[in-house]
Amino acid sequence: MPIVDTFKSEIIAGLRETPKRIASKFFYDERGSQLFEAITQLPEYYLTRTEISILREHLPAMAERIGTGATIIEFGTGAGVKTKMLLEAVHNPRAYIPIDISREQLTHATTKLAERFPNLEIHPIFGDYISEISLPIPSDAGKNVIFFPGSTVGNFTPDEAIQFLRKAAALIGPDGSLLIGFDRVKDIRVLEAAYNDAQGITAEFNRNLIRRIGREFGVAISPEDFDHLAFFNSEESRIEMHLVSGDSRTLKLDDEEITFAQGEHIVTEYSYKYTPETFAAILTASGFSVQDRWCDENNYFEVCYATVDHK
Ligand code: AVJ
Repeated sequence: MPIVDTFKSEIIAGLRETPKRIASKFFYDERGSQLFEAITQLPEYYLTRTEISILREHLPAMAERIGTGATIIEFGTGAGVKTKMLLEAVHNPRAYIPIDISREQLTHATTKLAERFPNLEIHPIFGDYISEISLPIPSDAGKNVIFFPGSTVGNFTPDEAIQFLRKAAALIGPDGSLLIGFDRVKDIRVLEAAYNDAQGITAEFNRNLIRRIGREFGVAISPEDFDHLAFFNSEESRIEMHLVSGDSRTLKLDDEEITFAQGEHIVTEYSYKYTPETFAAILTASGFSVQDRWCDENNYFEVCYATVDHK
C-alpha cells in the first residue's frame, strides 16, 4: 500500500481552514509520544489507569466472551501494556495483528510481544486507511476481534466513528467482534482537570505541535508563542484542545504564507465523552450490538464488548 509522508500537506491544508485545525494524530512524534506517556501517569489523567483497572478486574469475563482461538486485531500499537494483558487472558489466541502507520512502532511492538509470546503468530500490517486493509488470515480460522482501547475512538467525531466502525465490521466479517474502551461523560471539573494538569504536561504535549511544525518546515516558531487551551464543550460532549496565538504572525510554510491573528485559535484535538446510551447508539449505527459492558466503581470509563450484526 503506497504511503507517503503527508505531514506537510495536511498541516498546510488544516491551517488554511477556518477555524484552523491540526489533526491530533500529529501529536505523536518521538517527544509527543513521551509526553503522552507522562500524561498517562498524571494524577488528574484518570483515563489510562482506570481502563487498566477495568481490564485487570474483568479480563476473565472478556476472554470468556471472546472465546478460544480468536485473532486479535489492534489499530495503533501503544506501549503494549493493555495488549499484553489481553493476550495473556485470551484462550489460545490464533494470531495477533497490529496495524500501524509507523513502521518503527510496528517493529518495536512486534519484537517485544514476540519475546513475551514466543508461540503466538504475529502479523504486523503497515497501513493507514482501514478500507485498504485486508486480513492475512482467512476468516474461517476463528473469529476476528478488534481491540480498540484507550478511548482513541473519542478522537473521531460521532459521524467519523460510525464510518470507521462500519469499515471495521466489514474487515472482521460476520463473526467478528469488538472490545472497545471509551471515556464517559462525568463531572465537568474532573474532565477539565484531566486536560489541564497542574504540572503543565498536557500544555507541553499540545504546544509540542508547534515545535514539530518549526522543525519539519524549518521555520522560526517556538512553543511559547502559543497558549494551551482545553475545555469541555457540553453541547458537543467533547473536550476541545486549542492552541492560541499570543501575537499576530505570518509563517512561511514551504510556499504557503499562513497568517495568524493575535489570539487566533488552532483546534488540535476533540476527545468525545459518551454515556452508555450514546455510545451504544454509535455501535448500533455501525452495525454492532452491545453484548456486555464493564466499568469502574466511579463510572468514569467503560469497556464494551459488541458483535457484528447479522443482516
Ligand atoms: C489518546 C486520544 C485518548 O483524548 O484523552 C490526552 C489524548 N490528549 N491528553 C485523550 C490526550 C490530551 C487522549 N487519547
